[in-house]
Amino acid sequence: MTDGPRSTREIYDSASPKWARNEKLLLSDFTARPYVLEQLEPLSDRRVLDLGCGEGFVARQIKAAGAASVLGIDLSEGMIDEARAEEKRNPQGIEYRQGDATDLQGLSEAAFDRVAAVFLFNYVASDVMTEVIRSVRSWLAPGGRFVFTVPHPSLPFMRGEEPPFFFRRDGAGYFSARDKTLEGSIWRRDGVTVPVRCVHKPLEVYFEALGNAGWTCMPKVMELRVQPEHIDLDRDFFEPLLDQPLHLLFSVEKQE
Ligand SMILES: C[S@@+](CC[C@H](N)C(=O)[O-])C[C@H]1O[C@@H](n2cnc3c(N)ncnc32)[C@H](O)[C@@H]1O
Repeated sequence: MTDGPRSTREIYDSASPKWARNEKLLLSDFTARPYVLEQLEPLSDRRVLDLGCGEGFVARQIKAAGAASVLGIDLSEGMIDEARAEEKRNPQGIEYRQGDATDLQGLSEAAFDRVAAVFLFNYVASDVMTEVIRSVRSWLAPGGRFVFTVPHPSLPFMRGEEPPFFFRRDGAGYFSARDKTLEGSIWRRDGVTVPVRCVHKPLEVYFEALGNAGWTCMPKVMELRVQPEHIDLDRDFFEPLLDQPLHLLFSVEKQE
């Protein structure tokens, strides 16, 4: 885990009520998560692991899309409590466990057809990420797929500390900031801010990690951004980010 003024667990334990939602609310609910779901398809009858599942916003959509099973794992007890409370209110048969994705025991090889990690790797250093990516490969069945998103590594270097999304780089440079923790904020559409953090990794690090962890095929990479439909929906909220790289999505298949 990456040490900061507050641990990741503390940040999410205290912010968990702000994350709890059943409809799109955060900036990235519009600009990132729909693309993750798209890249995980087809989900029908698939066994899915959601690493760093938070309060289950994505896990619930995966299950609703027809997944046979969904296991959500998150470091934060507060986030898992929120996820379980929603599962109790509206049962979908999703299993949630509190656990550290960097040190998971007891998952079987080839137990999943899909693994998602939505904004998990911005909480760990490069070498730790490589080991998680290696484990994910072993947990996937042949033909399975891993989809993950991270903040776009260029964003902190292109953007000041302005709503509705930023990371503070505190004078660091793109390469020298490798594995440094950049604190930031992301906005909800109702104006509420949510604290986020990014253990910065230059672009090449993701490719190195996939290669070093034994992935052999080319990942699909998407640079996620504000789209015209976002501007149509809420110009005031999305326009400050127009034409800027917000998030990176990687989708990679485990070959048969
Ligand atoms: C930005 S939130 C995203 C939550 C969820 N994936 C979503 O898209 O709504 C990041 C989540 O990663 C979790 N997390 C951070 N480090 C983790 C780790 N080492 N193991 C498991 N979860 C972790 C945090 O507790 C938090 O819930």
